[in-house]
Amino acid sequence: MERTLVIVKPDAFEKGATGKIIDRFLSEGFRIVALKLFRFTTEQAKGFYIVHKDRPFYRELVEFMTSGPVVAMVLEGEDAIRRVREIIGPTDSEEARRVAPNSIRALFGTDKGKNAVHASDSVESAQYEIPFIFSRLEMVE
Ligand code: CMP
Repeated sequence: MERTLVIVKPDAFEKGATGKIIDRFLSEGFRIVALKLFRFTTEQAKGFYIVHKDRPFYRELVEFMTSGPVVAMVLEGEDAIRRVREIIGPTDSEEARRVAPNSIRALFGTDKGKNAVHASDSVESAQYEIPFIFSRLEMVE
């Protein structure tokens, strides 16, 4: 069993899509082992996305991720990291609508930045991201 971190970003939360997104993951067979609603501070968002600190979109990404509440969850399942990435679709929501029209980003995202959800892209990133957001006490066994 593998665990991955998913964040419903401010655009999708604002649209009221959180329930539909959670329901999609449940219907795909994942188990929720942690869940919370919060708003990132600038420092927290910078730290969460530290791997992107030298990218040209870093500032825009941090501004967007602090623009409103988010819902973070840890999902557990077989091959969870790869499967969740497949279900959310490509980073750019416009591309997602062309190549993966049933993906979460195709259904709820706008573009490359406002793309509805984040999900860990590797075992290493999941190992950084899960404890960044959740303490052990906030995860069920
Ligand atoms: P996410 O899965 O949260 O991981 C990093 C994020 O950076 C990505 O989704 C996008 O929201 C954002 N991102 C990637 N490329 C760009 C870009 N060219 N312009 C703006 N944001 C981007």
